[in-house]
Amino acid sequence: MGRQVIQSASLFFSPTGTTRRIVKSIARGLALRPRDFDLTLPAARERGVTLERDELLLLAFPVYGGRLPQLIRDYFVKLPSGRRPAAAVVVYGNRAYEDALLELFDLCHAKGYDVVAAAAFVGEHSYSQVMGKGRPDPADEERARCFGLAVRQTLLSDSSLTDKPLLNKGARRPYRQYLKKLPFSPETTRRCTKCLTCVRNCPVGAFINGDPRNINHDKCILCAACIKLCPEKAKSFLDDDFCDDMAALASSNLERKEPITFLP
Ligand SMILES: Cc1cc2nc3c(=O)[nH]c(=O)nc-3n(C[C@H](O)[C@H](O)[C@H](O)COP(=O)(O)O)c2cc1C
Repeated sequence: MGRQVIQSASLFFSPTGTTRRIVKSIARGLALRPRDFDLTLPAARERGVTLERDELLLLAFPVYGGRLPQLIRDYFVKLPSGRRPAAAVVVYGNRAYEDALLELFDLCHAKGYDVVAAAAFVGEHSYSQVMGKGRPDPADEERARCFGLAVRQTLLSDSSLTDKPLLNKGARRPYRQYLKKLPFSPETTRRCTKCLTCVRNCPVGAFINGDPRNINHDKCILCAACIKLCPEKAKSFLDDDFCDDMAALASSNLERKEPITFLP
């Protein structure tokens, strides 16, 4: 019989923009009428989402410490429950995606969604200019487009994915603990021209009184959006231990990892 699906709703969170680019490429392959729910800014996450019956739900989120970002897990309570096809996608920084895709699969199941496909793509690491440098690149974007095409084909059948392939990849329940919060936030140098790009793009509204030099550390999720998006390169993490750790992490994760897709 197959499913009657004529449009897709993409739900994504993308502080440094790589997940958004993967979503766009998948949507090209899906070739369904698209609706975007970009959950990156706080105002968008205050709103709920209405979903149509004849809609594929594409969910795409970055990997934080081998898990989904905590605020995305929290956001799931706002999503409507009910049977509908969903595609689960995570984007990671060329280190590892660990439990994140399984966690997304489980969250979809808890909502009653049929996960028809899943994938892990690579994006340049939020904390590095060498891990996953420049990714997604044209090869990744083509893989993402082909994934979209394959998802569309899957919709023509009634099959959906089980958790087995994800568990075979070493993911486990209970999932790993969330990362411990680092005791610092990005620092600002004199290069800052107060253009406010960082303030406008902060996913948690962490800048106090809209001042680009003044970050509320309790709110900051260390997503590095303000660092990566700054046109003057005026922001960075200055903590020596953290910089050493990132350099070591980068040197052991230079080898290119390829996207991986799971279809029924
Ligand atoms: C707090 C935090 C934790 C991260 N943890 C991981 C990780 O465990 N594995 C990995 O490969 N990349 C990790 N990354 C990198 C991001 O998953 C990666 O850069 C992703 O492409 C960012 O997506 P975005 O551009 O849509 O924000 C982490 C990034 C941040 C900010």
